[in-house]
Amino acid sequence: MGPLTAAPAASSAPKAAIAARQAGYKKMGAAMKALNDQLKSDAPVKATLVAAAQALATTAREQPKFFPAGSGPAAGVPTDALPNIWTDRANFDAQMAKLIGESGKLVVVANGGNAEAIRVQAKATGATCAACHRQFRADT
Ligand code: HEC
Repeated sequence: MGPLTAAPAASSAPKAAIAARQAGYKKMGAAMKALNDQLKSDAPVKATLVAAAQALATTAREQPKFFPAGSGPAAGVPTDALPNIWTDRANFDAQMAKLIGESGKLVVVANGGNAEAIRVQAKATGATCAACHRQFRADT
């Protein structure tokens, strides 16, 4: 066995966590746009829909670890995360779990290739974004 290294600080250091979660949300925003652009077109490309759904689902599963204690507005870097994330954590985690569930279903439905079913599931996924933003994100 080689020398042991310290665990990466990214998950615990507030500033790094804020940067990581914002990058994750940007990625999800872009994936959601790619998905909706395809669904609006006359000939949606299945591979693009599947790739966007997978990006959403994978990123959604990464996000929960980027909200350590102390990474709210008090961290001293710009963040739109509201302080109630840390006082109403069970509710926040439940919203997070909903996104993970719906985006996971979206991958399955996208692979099925039925545009109407994908449209319905994309809407259900987008609703989980909006619900969390209303409660836990500033400026929405
Ligand atoms: C569990 C709560 C939650 C869910 C679900 C959620 N978000 Fe967010 N989102 C946040 C919070 C909190 C912030 C503010 C993060 C910060 O500034 O530190 C945010 C910020 C963002 C941003 C701005 C990122 C930046 O800094 O530029 C985008 C874009 C975004 N979310 C898109 C999405 C999309 C798309 C979905 C669904 C696919 C989604 N979010 C689901 C809580 C959530």
